[in-house]
Amino acid sequence: MKVNNFPRKGEVILAPLAGYTHSAFRRICRRLGADRTYSELVHAYGLTLRGFEKNKELIYFTKEEIPLHLQLYGRNPTEISQGAAYLLENFKDITAIDINFGCSVKKVLKAKAGSYILKDLNLYYEIIKETNEVTKSFGKFLSIKIRLGFDKDILEKLVETALKAGIKVIAVHPRLAIQGFGGKANWERLKIIKDIFKEDIFLIGSGDIISYDQIDNHFKSYHVDGIMIGRAAIKHPWIFKEYKIKQPIKVSLKEKLELIKLELDMMLEYMSPQKAFRVIKSQVSQILKGEKNKKAIEQPLLKTKTYEEFIDLLNHLTNQPSK
Ligand SMILES: Cc1cc2nc3c(=O)[nH]c(=O)nc-3n(C[C@H](O)[C@H](O)[C@H](O)COP(=O)(O)O)c2cc1C
Repeated sequence: MKVNNFPRKGEVILAPLAGYTHSAFRRICRRLGADRTYSELVHAYGLTLRGFEKNKELIYFTKEEIPLHLQLYGRNPTEISQGAAYLLENFKDITAIDINFGCSVKKVLKAKAGSYILKDLNLYYEIIKETNEVTKSFGKFLSIKIRLGFDKDILEKLVETALKAGIKVIAVHPRLAIQGFGGKANWERLKIIKDIFKEDIFLIGSGDIISYDQIDNHFKSYHVDGIMIGRAAIKHPWIFKEYKIKQPIKVSLKEKLELIKLELDMMLEYMSPQKAFRVIKSQVSQILKGEKNKKAIEQPLLKTKTYEEFIDLLNHLTNQPSK
């Protein structure tokens, strides 16, 4: 069976970001040039138990976001593979299922899921093998996202085990899980991995890219096949376009506020207005970083109590003449 939308070398991809990479933001990043998108992590068992409506905010998507990987997490191989089957049965356009083995937030570690599984290679293998079989039976592929290890760097072993379980596309955030976001992402480790596993792996690097002009250099220096942009895309989704046109884009305050308005408008397809304006507030402060009057613009927006107040203020600010 032909697999559609398998990644091509040189792709620049929107990383999965809980709280940010819902459908509207994924669409915006695709419009700005992201080659591929990932959803944030979705609890596999919760998904099969409660279905689409209860998980709509996380898994709603449109064709514009494709190629799209829907990311699952959990601990039990059967629950994860059933989550994958649920998605692929109900949403034929999904490009791939991804499994999260990288998350190190308390809630996920408490459930012994995400990066916690990197401690147990047998379980890690079983999860990948079982889910890959299900994914393949739908004519789709499985990808995973990992770290260097939980508390020690065992990346060679993790990659070898995943390849043995039958997959190829692996995104690595090259820090230990216990590091969280501390220290620097160790891209040198990615170069070593690509040089060992060569064409057996489609290796995606994820970590600390802050500007478009680092991307070519990272492809060249670390031999990765794809690069993910995470936090930098929240602040400046134009990074994808900058990479395509190979020059910086100066974005005016008006353009930033218009992007927020557009995103909020699209969010209403799958979120209540009251939820949507609260969710977007965390992006507002990030996207306004670097603005001269950041505080004066941001504070009133963050203080709004209803969707209507927020949108009125946004309209007012957008229509003000630029200084
Ligand atoms: C707010 C936030 C949420 C994240 N959520 C996820 C997630 O749901 N799934 C995942 O695999 N990684 C998640 N990550 C990790 C990112 O995908 C990425 O690997 C990491 O941030 C390093 O890349 P960056 O320096 O480009 O941000 C998250 C990171 C941040 C900052």
